[in-house]
Order: sequence, then structure tokens, then C-alpha cells
Amino acid sequence: MNALTHRSPRPGDHPDALAGMRADVLHALATKPRRLPSKYFYDARGSALFERICGQPEYYLTRAELEIMRGHAGAIAQALGPDVLLVEYGSGSGMKTRLLLRHLHAPVAYVPVEIAHEALLDSIVALAKEFPHVEMLPVCADFTRPVALPRPRRAPRRTVVYFPGSTLGNFDAPEALRLLKQMRAEMGRDGAALVGIDLKKDRGTLEAAYNDAAGVTAEFTLNMLARFNRELGADFDLSAFRHRARWNALAGRIETHLVSTRAQAVCVAGHTFRFEADEAMLVEYSCKYSPGEFALLAARAGLQATRAWQDAGNRFSVQLLEAAPRS
Ligand code: TRP
Repeated sequence: MNALTHRSPRPGDHPDALAGMRADVLHALATKPRRLPSKYFYDARGSALFERICGQPEYYLTRAELEIMRGHAGAIAQALGPDVLLVEYGSGSGMKTRLLLRHLHAPVAYVPVEIAHEALLDSIVALAKEFPHVEMLPVCADFTRPVALPRPRRAPRRTVVYFPGSTLGNFDAPEALRLLKQMRAEMGRDGAALVGIDLKKDRGTLEAAYNDAAGVTAEFTLNMLARFNRELGADFDLSAFRHRARWNALAGRIETHLVSTRAQAVCVAGHTFRFEADEAMLVEYSCKYSPGEFALLAARAGLQATRAWQDAGNRFSVQLLEAAPRS
């Protein structure tokens, strides 16, 4: 996940950001069942809380993925080959990208695609210091829509789309498929994608990861309402909503909700919305895959996993996707 780099709208960010958030939230609250867009988690406080989630003993995802990158970055770089144009969806905290760039052979350029302007700059400023020979080509855009990739000074041998952190899991099946097809189009026939996925495991482990004992995840999800209060002038009573994350085995995903603990009315930008007791607003899906399920999804996007790396505990997987041979 690329939380660290997201920020709340500030002067200098996209001028329509606040209006866009207001429209999104009003629409989300007017539609039932209610579903709030998860991108609004990441204001400055949300980003800081997310970094703390990553360090919670129950949240194994980040540690498992870093273990994979630390142990296999050399093999991954070898599989990707030399002279790569590295495109990253979202500009992450940089640690995983750094590990990859350190091992890649003569990477041509790094192209982070990130919607938050400031976050985008922060990430390349740090990386440019360590990798002065890699051209930095930031693109300020929403990676869920097709982006025109900038042309680097030196011609790359292939384009590699890096999508770490199990972020793909935050999209439901049709959206994930659309995103994989978009990646397939952006990387071209000879390109590759490197995608992090969280693997299916027992309910106890999964639910604990999203309900840490210290309550950091609950604070993180409730912070979205605090953000709406502050930035949109809403009046959510934070003590009248609670965090709930449950494993839906049939759908293969953790479903995180904010649940109204009583009947209440909330005012947002001059509109009143009523909540029943126990009414749940969906805030996030975190889809988990078995390697076989992910292979099927990738195949529907014209991709095949040619290599995959797991941590020692088989909790997380980094998949190398390449264009499937035309049948
Ligand atoms: N999206 C990430 C994930 O699915 C980050 C995350 C962890 C998260 N805990 C969360 C997102 C709780 C929303 C709610 O793992």
C-alpha cells in the first residue's frame, strides 16, 4: 500500500480535490448500501496511522513482502532483465522500490504514478539522491485510469509495472480485472508486471491483521470520518461509529466497515443523512487469493505468472506477470 505518501488536500494539490471529495462523499452517503471510497483514508494522520498498522504484530503483510524483496530482489531483477522502465502505481514509502532499484541492472527511468502531488515529489526527491543515474519521471495522475507514460531519454528494453503492497486486493474482481488489463496495455507485449498479492489463510490470522489489539486499525478507519468533519465540515460523532473487519470466506476477502452504534443523523455539507442502529458503511475490501485463483484472474487479462516468490511462511506472494502467448 502506498499510504505514507498520501496527504490531505493542500494549496498546491489538485485544485478540485476538495470539491471532488465532497461530491464523492455526498454520493456515497446517498447510495445504499453505503460505501465510502478508501482513498480518503490517507490524509496526513491517516498516512501516519497506516505506517503504524504496518508495524503491528498482527499485520503480517508488510513484513512478509519486505522479507520477499530482501531475500529475492536479485532473482527478481534478473528475471526482469536490464534497461527497464520502472512504472509504479502509487508512489510507495520507497523501501520496496529502493530494494528493487538497487538490484535492477541499468534501469532507464522510474515513473511513479501518484495522485497526491506533494507525495509524488517527496518520493522522487529521496530516490533521486540514491539513484542519480536513473531518470525520474513522476506522473501526477490517478493510476486507476489509463495514463500516457512519459518517454525517457534513453530507450528502455521493456516496461515493468510495479504494483506492490497488496493494493490490487483493495479492488473487487471486476475492478482488479480492469486494472490488470490496463497494466497489460501499458506494459505492451514485451513488458512485465510485478504484483504483490496477499495469500488466503485461516480466518484467525486474517481477522487479527485487520483488528489489531492495540486498536490502531480502528483508529485509522475512524480517522476517515474525522477527516470529513474537518475538511468537509461534517458532524460525524466518532464515538457513535465502530470499526469492524470480517473475513468473508465465500467472497475471499476481508470486509472492513464502519458501523453506526445507534440510530443517528449526520450532517455533511448541508445535507442530512440518517443511520439506523447497526447500519454498516463499507470502507475497504482486502481480497486474498490462492496462487491458482490469481492465475485465473491474470489469464482473463491476457497475463500469466511466469515466476512467483513467497515468504518463508507462505503468507504473501510477489508475482511476475507477462503477456500470455496468443492462443
Ligand atoms: N489496504 C491495505 C490492506 O488491505 C491496508 C489496510 C490495512 C487497511 N488495514 C486496513 C485498509 C483497514 C482499510 C482498513 O491490507
